[in-house]
Order: sequence, then C-alpha cells, then structure tokens
Amino acid sequence: MKILVIGSGGREHALAWKLRQSPRVSQVFCAPGNAGIAGVATCVPIPASDHRALSTFARSEGIGLTVVGPDDALAGGVVDHFEEEGLRIFGPRQAAARLESSKSFAKDFMFRHGIPTADSRTFETSAAARAHCAKANYPLVVKADGLALGKGVVIATRYSEAEQAIREIMEERRFGEAGSRVVVEEFLQGEECSIHALVDGDSYLLFPAAQDHKRIHDGDQGPNTGGMGTFSPPSKLLSQEIEERIRTEVLERFLAGLRADGIDFRGMLFPGLMITASGPKVLEFNCRFGDPETQVLLTRLESDLLELLEATAERRLSKASAQWSPLSSVCVVLASAGYPGSPATGFPISGLNSVPTDTLVFHAGTRMENGSPHTSGGRVLGVTALGDTLEVARRNAYGAVALIQFEGRQFRTDIAAKGL
Ligand code: AMP
Ligand code: GLY
Repeated sequence: MKILVIGSGGREHALAWKLRQSPRVSQVFCAPGNAGIAGVATCVPIPASDHRALSTFARSEGIGLTVVGPDDALAGGVVDHFEEEGLRIFGPRQAAARLESSKSFAKDFMFRHGIPTADSRTFETSAAARAHCAKANYPLVVKADGLALGKGVVIATRYSEAEQAIREIMEERRFGEAGSRVVVEEFLQGEECSIHALVDGDSYLLFPAAQDHKRIHDGDQGPNTGGMGTFSPPSKLLSQEIEERIRTEVLERFLAGLRADGIDFRGMLFPGLMITASGPKVLEFNCRFGDPETQVLLTRLESDLLELLEATAERRLSKASAQWSPLSSVCVVLASAGYPGSPATGFPISGLNSVPTDTLVFHAGTRMENGSPHTSGGRVLGVTALGDTLEVARRNAYGAVALIQFEGRQFRTDIAAKGL
C-alpha cells in the first residue's frame, strides 16, 4: 500500500519513519516534508493547506491511506474533503476537530459531560472579559479561542497582564480570527502530562503517557513553545490510580459525550492534562498526534502503526491491541536562535552523520540547500534515543545532541530530568 503523510514537522518525520516499517507499505509520500523526511519518504511540494491538490495527488498516485499531521489541516476540513472524494484518510472530520480548534466548544463539551477541567468562562467581547478579570482572583489564564500555535495562552498574575492579553487577542487580533472569543480560566497547579488514545467513536486504545517541556528555558522558565522535548514513560508522575482515573473520567466520558452529541470522531485524541492534587484535569483536547510526543511514542511502538490507524478509521479498535517496548525514550529538541519568537534560519547543520545509528534524529524545520541540510524553522531537530532506563535514554540523547551543530542552536539541558 502507498501512504501519504501530510505535514512537514518532526511528528510527520516520525510517522513516515514508522509507517515505512510496515510490511504492507510499499512507499511513503510526504507533502510537503522536509530534508530529513526525504530520507524515508518521497517528498512532494504540496502545502498542507491545499486540500484539492493533495486529493488530486492521492488519486493519481493510488494512495491507500493518507495520514494527517497538523491541526490546521484538520480544522480546515481536509478529512471531509478526502472522504467526499472517496479517498481513505486518517483523522477526525472538521466538526469533530472543533474540539481542538475552538477552546470554548471544548470547554462546553467537557462541562456538559462531566470531564474534569479548570473552571472557565467564555467571552464574546473584550469589555465583558475585562469586567470579569477586574474582579477575579489571580493567577488566572487567558486563552484565545482558536488555534494559535500554542502561543495564544497567557498566565496572568495580575489584572494588568490579563488586560494586555485581552487587548492583544481580541482587539489587536494578534492571532487573527482565533481571537474572536477568549476563554478565561482558573489557574491549575500540578505537573503536565500528554495522553494519546486512538478513538474510533465506539472504543479507544490508550498509548503510554509522555511528558512534554513547553517552556523554552531550563527549569520551565520563559515563554511557551510548541514543545522543547519529551520523554516516555513518565513513571514517577502516573500511578495506576491516576491512569485508571484518566480512563474513567476522561476517555470513557469523552466517548459517552461523542455519542450523546452525535459527533463522529475517528482519529488520535491527545488530551493535555494537568495532574493536580485532586486528580487529572484536561487543559485542552488536541485531535492529532503531539509534536514532539510522537517521536518518543513511536520509537517505543512495536506494533504495525498502519494496522492501528486502519482499525481506527474503520471502527475496529475494540479488536485491536498494541505492543510497547519497555525501554524509555527521550527526545531533545534543537531550536533556532529567536524561537519561539522570530527564528533566525538558513544555517548549515553539521554532525548529523556522526550520530550513532540507534539514535533517531527527526527533522522539523530543515531544508536541503546545495545538497546539505540547513535550518528553515523554529524547531529544527528532535534527537530521540532509547535506553533501558530513563537515565540511559537521556544520556544517549544528550550524547548525540553534543555532536550536532548549527549557528544559534538552543536546547534545554533538563529534558526528562523531572522523571529521574
Ligand atoms: P493549552 O493550549 O490550553 O494547552 O495551553 C498551553 C499551555 O498553557 C499548557 O500546556 C499549560 O502549560 C498552560 N496552561 C493552560 N491552561 C492552564 C491552566 N488552566 N492552568 C495552568 N496552566 C495552564
Ligand atoms: N507538544 C504539544 C503539542 O503537540 O501540542
């Protein structure tokens, strides 16, 4: 079978790498891909937003399954379009992907179906949001309703900061239409945890958990990013009791909510959780694989990913199972100077060939120039290594990080340290 992966990040590199290992896959294509993805797939220069060109390509190439990486393609309805064209595709339709693309829609869904989450209110005007924040307790969290690359969330410690966030999001429209509403919510204290579960509407298949590091600097300092590094499993964070509560209070109620609301959700559900003193609470629903969570999860997956994605799309998940490596996996992201603001790019990347073969370097913002890889985005590489213990995996990942250079390279030195 021929596969098409849509997207161009480290997540898509990991998806293409894993799908190519399936004995049933003859060729993997990726649109548009990047310099590293070109090593495991045939890259085709079609942007993820051009749904018509993507479906035309899928039809002419005889693609058996298309796998969608990024949230904006899902929110833009790429799955609806492919299905209307009679093409097989993995991911939720636009109406279901609203659980990620509208935070107010997701909060409403959680409140109605008893899924634990922060108390919150949604505001349609900046005046109403200001009035609420003027008499609220701090800290509190102000969020743009729509997709904003993980940057539309502000933790305000006093009114002036909340006021500034409301102005930037709703009046200056820093994130465009994503700021037509704001969600103002209670600040939750705890440790964050990334949960992934394939969901086919009738049942779910829970992946091992992972932990991301959202802030740019060591010690969880500085602004939020898309994610600076991950590890799996986060054994210290998740007791059996917490995992059981995630199943019953989040995943089972999510499925019941889908049924009650008549939402056809087939795809990857990735709830971002805060593990608080009173249990797990959902910060947000993502309707796709996480980046860089996918890098650590797929390096631990021993089963055929194609089988799992097909079972999800065809509502056969209750009969599917997945085998996972007992090894630990750690992914350290190397980013460009300036990220998460304006990254400085265009620099040659050296040392990739000296990385040990059992360490995987998943590419994100890279591009070939004169036959050699150059930086082309904020997050550049996800250096991913396995080990018998988290400590060994971490040492292996950082050993490889030391071999790779590019101008302005920045990375966190404490990825997975909280798991030791
Ligand atoms: P979100 O896009 O809603 O997941 O928010 C992005 C990041 O902001 C999360 O990963 C958390 O680090 C932080 N965050 C969001 N909501 C809250 C909250 N209610 N309390 C504390 N931190 C939050
Ligand atoms: N790493 C977090 C995300 O993919 O949203």
